[in-house]
Amino acid sequence: MRILVTGGAGYIGSHTVLSLQQAGHEVVVIDNLVNSSAESLRRVAELSGTPAVFHRADLVDESAVDAVFAGHAIDAVIHFAGLKAVGESVREPLHYYYNNLVGTLNLLRVMDRRGVRSIVFSSSATVYGEHNPVPYLEKMEIGANNPYGRTKEQVEDILADLGAADSRWQIALLRYFNPVGAHPSGRIGEDPQGVPNNLVPFIAQVAVGRREKLMVFGGDYDTPDGTCQRDYIHVVDLADGHVAALDHITGRPGVYRWNLGSGKGSSVLEVLRAFEKAAGKRIPYEITGRRSGDLPAFWADASSALADLSWSTTRTVDQMCEDHWRWQKNNPQGY
Ligand code: NAD
Ligand code: WQD
Repeated sequence: MRILVTGGAGYIGSHTVLSLQQAGHEVVVIDNLVNSSAESLRRVAELSGTPAVFHRADLVDESAVDAVFAGHAIDAVIHFAGLKAVGESVREPLHYYYNNLVGTLNLLRVMDRRGVRSIVFSSSATVYGEHNPVPYLEKMEIGANNPYGRTKEQVEDILADLGAADSRWQIALLRYFNPVGAHPSGRIGEDPQGVPNNLVPFIAQVAVGRREKLMVFGGDYDTPDGTCQRDYIHVVDLADGHVAALDHITGRPGVYRWNLGSGKGSSVLEVLRAFEKAAGKRIPYEITGRRSGDLPAFWADASSALADLSWSTTRTVDQMCEDHWRWQKNNPQGY
């Protein structure tokens, strides 16, 4: 198939472009490069042997999106493009709602007009909010507790309404847990701008000497070692999950929800130790106060994706850290 990947120059998008190409699909990318570099796509082409077609365009510009569809016979869309920093979304809610909602609405309107009614959407475990018990199941009531998460929840609602109104739509809502790691080649990986918000990119920058030490946000949670537990998923497993979801929905109209996680929690200190082992060095850290909004522990119930997609994670936290470290060591300043 010919797949349009929005946000394809970004972290998860670039790995997914590669997985799609390796599965035999043709790829067209739209990205405005607000949080990425076109270098990622050059390197994906180097790994796959086939360049993806790249359009630098903003989804909030509906005519630019329409022009891309006019130029290519697109069969399906994987929609990654969006802003994703929780803290920034609290400070700049309008910016987040505008980018993530208007961008998505433009994309869906163009798709509908042009008869492309197959979409895989990047949702997030953050939609489960504060009130659900772990492990999280797709059928639970959702309710995010920050503007970023609410943009994901709202797009899920829009897509569910669309699927209910028009039975031709094939829609997958993928709720990712905590993606980390990099392609094992060390050529593509996560390249955060500024101070990393997420744990593993921060640890990696300490390991490579760009930052002095890791601040561990809270050591007094009611968890086995007092630090928070999360469900870390290797980005290549996550990318392959998109290919599996796309295969499943093709020819099967409906609205599907799948958790993409390992089904297992790891603590901040466990991840730190795994990274130390991968990098072969001690990583200085200090336990500080809790970060506002953090939950003590959550992980996926990953059984639906296994049952429906025959997909499950295959890579361990050790492999995530080894691959993340190879990328960081070989690209100390990112792209
Ligand atoms: P990323 O920032 O690396 O990738 C997002 C890409 O979208 C970037 O290349 C950015 O330039 C592009 N983009 C943003 N707004 C755009 C717009 N208006 N028009 C065109 N391009 C635009 O982030 P990522 O980690 O690869 O995340 C991909 C998707 O997965 C996002 O929707 C994110 O919310 C979601 N997600 C990420 C995580 C995570 O922890 N990384 C977890 C759950 C869900
Ligand atoms: C993991 C753990 C921190 C940084 C976020 C988003 C979520 C989803 C995935 C997009 C927590 C601790 C972190 C640091 C630390 N993204 N930590 N020191 O918060 O589980 O999820 O990314 O959808 O929506 O909220 O991931 O990597 O930020 O944190 O101690 O410098 O590491 O407290 O326990 P989180 P994270």
